[in-house]
Amino acid sequence: DGHPLVLGIETSCDETGVGLVRGCELLSDEVASSVEQHARFGGVVPEVASRAHLEAMSPTVERALDSAGARLEDVDAIAVTAGPGLAGALLVGVSAAKAYALALDKPLYGVNHLLGHVAVDQLEHGPLPTPCVALLVSGGHTSLLLVRDVATDVRLLGDTVDDAAGEAYDKVARLLGLPYPGGPPIDRAAREGDPLALRFPRGKLGDGSYDFSFSGLKTAVARQVEDGQSNGLQPSVPDIAGAFQESVVDVLTRKAVDACVEYGVGHLVISGGVAANSRLRDLAGQRCAETGVELRIPRPRLCTDNGAMIAALGADIVAAGFPPSPLDLATDTSLPV
Ligand code: KG4
Ligand code: ZN
Repeated sequence: DGHPLVLGIETSCDETGVGLVRGCELLSDEVASSVEQHARFGGVVPEVASRAHLEAMSPTVERALDSAGARLEDVDAIAVTAGPGLAGALLVGVSAAKAYALALDKPLYGVNHLLGHVAVDQLEHGPLPTPCVALLVSGGHTSLLLVRDVATDVRLLGDTVDDAAGEAYDKVARLLGLPYPGGPPIDRAAREGDPLALRFPRGKLGDGSYDFSFSGLKTAVARQVEDGQSNGLQPSVPDIAGAFQESVVDVLTRKAVDACVEYGVGHLVISGGVAANSRLRDLAGQRCAETGVELRIPRPRLCTDNGAMIAALGADIVAAGFPPSPLDLATDTSLPV
């Protein structure tokens, strides 16, 4: 239908993602994750992730083509995550994308992973409403963005000054004896607890910035656990999980909605692995409704790292008329938006 067929490749962290997109249409989305290989370390081990990407790359490309009923020759453009992310992991994806681009004689586009998390929403809800505010919350990022055009005009409003939101979930889960990744078990435990039984600090709330901080919260939870062990008055795991979660989602949703109000923006997009959180979805829904902001959260499968999000952003970049990246495209572990 006139839109180019874009192949997207994502390898910034522990998911090897390959997706095929035409305009706003999602044709395939295949992900091979090495998350289980990292579980016993309580976090992603870069070497292990790079090796897993190398092994998963071509089978995942084949699966993505198969499930879209497409052939490699049908691909019109190749988009790949150039950063931010883990150095070795990014290198595997970018090297593969260069090889495909060279072999097929098709243009290569190195794109920003963070913007992929925003662009992916159009595969579920149609063209991105602009301007919008985007909140990206995952194991690696906690960023608030003002998006006027995802391909050409994005401003970073705030970022975490220490741990990412998902990283805080993972560290607190460990303190509470819950498995990795910590988001889902904390989400579940919190539902059984009384979130008002305890109150933890709200990092940087009310400081007038759009930055986030979660390390003080993590320390407060650690202190609570230690004190409970020494005085025998330990609150239940569900109560601690609930109070921790309440602090995280309170800060995230308040800052996101405040940004919408300050910039006069009527749409908020929330994405990244933590966007799967049930309390975040509820509270964001409630606060957006109170403020007249329309909330968009892609389904969890699209919120976590995947190749379709990179293809979606690639499609926008092609449509905006940008020239392709050179074949010596470099990776950038801390690529800014
Ligand atoms: O986007 P993602 O899959 O990978 C990146 O980090 O880029 O995000 C993973 C993060 C992990 O920290 C995980 O604990 C968190 O998302 N997560 C959640 C939930 N599901 C996953 N955090 C809170 N609640 C959840 N239900
Ligand atoms: Zn991500």
